[in-house]
Amino acid sequence: MPSHDDVDAFLTETLVGSDPTLDAALRAQHDAGLPAIEVAPVNAKFLHLLTRIAGARRVLEVGTLGGYSTIWFARAVGTGGRVVTIEAEPANADIARANLERAGVAGRVEVRVGRGADVLPTLVDEEPFDLVFIDADKESNETYLDWAARLGRPGTVVVLDNVVRGGEVADAGTSDSKVQGARRGILMLGSDPRFDATALQTLDRKGWDGVAVAIVVDSSPGR
Ligand code: DHB
Ligand code: MG
Repeated sequence: MPSHDDVDAFLTETLVGSDPTLDAALRAQHDAGLPAIEVAPVNAKFLHLLTRIAGARRVLEVGTLGGYSTIWFARAVGTGGRVVTIEAEPANADIARANLERAGVAGRVEVRVGRGADVLPTLVDEEPFDLVFIDADKESNETYLDWAARLGRPGTVVVLDNVVRGGEVADAGTSDSKVQGARRGILMLGSDPRFDATALQTLDRKGWDGVAVAIVVDSSPGR
């Protein structure tokens, strides 16, 4: 009986393929000692396709890490598009900038260094974002979702990573702060009138996890 790793390998080989630029980006972040918590290739391709399906030209990412998902977003928005990505750790941002440069997409990506809670308010005067990907410190999920709604518009796609965490999200009594953050994110997506959302469990090379996908809806009174 094939394992889920066998399935992940088959799907990745068949539908995602490999790409020297992305391989180099992963090698660079691995060699620099960054944790291997970037999105799995099948998940990265999902985000890339979602961006194209939504016709998104402006993408906001919270949590750059080494820029692997950022490259996928940058390719999805095309030459006229823009990605703003926020990274709290300056050393990670340096790796990401080098990876984006090597990928030939640095011109359409702005890497902003700082904590999300500090950087996000500085984006209020920008044009609304069409898609927001939240993949940072899980404890701050509610803050990031709030900003995603504020910096988006009705129709903006919001994706929240790591919402299942090996199934622990179903444990209301969890003492793990990251799981608590995942739970609070899901609860907010289910109750905040600005969102309509669902979540899918995923089983890929990173194990059992999940991703929430939401749309920002017009919740203004008298709509
Ligand atoms: C963790 C964070 C992630 O964004 C991820 O995809 C997997 C794990 C973590 O902090 O544990
Ligand atoms: Mg993640």
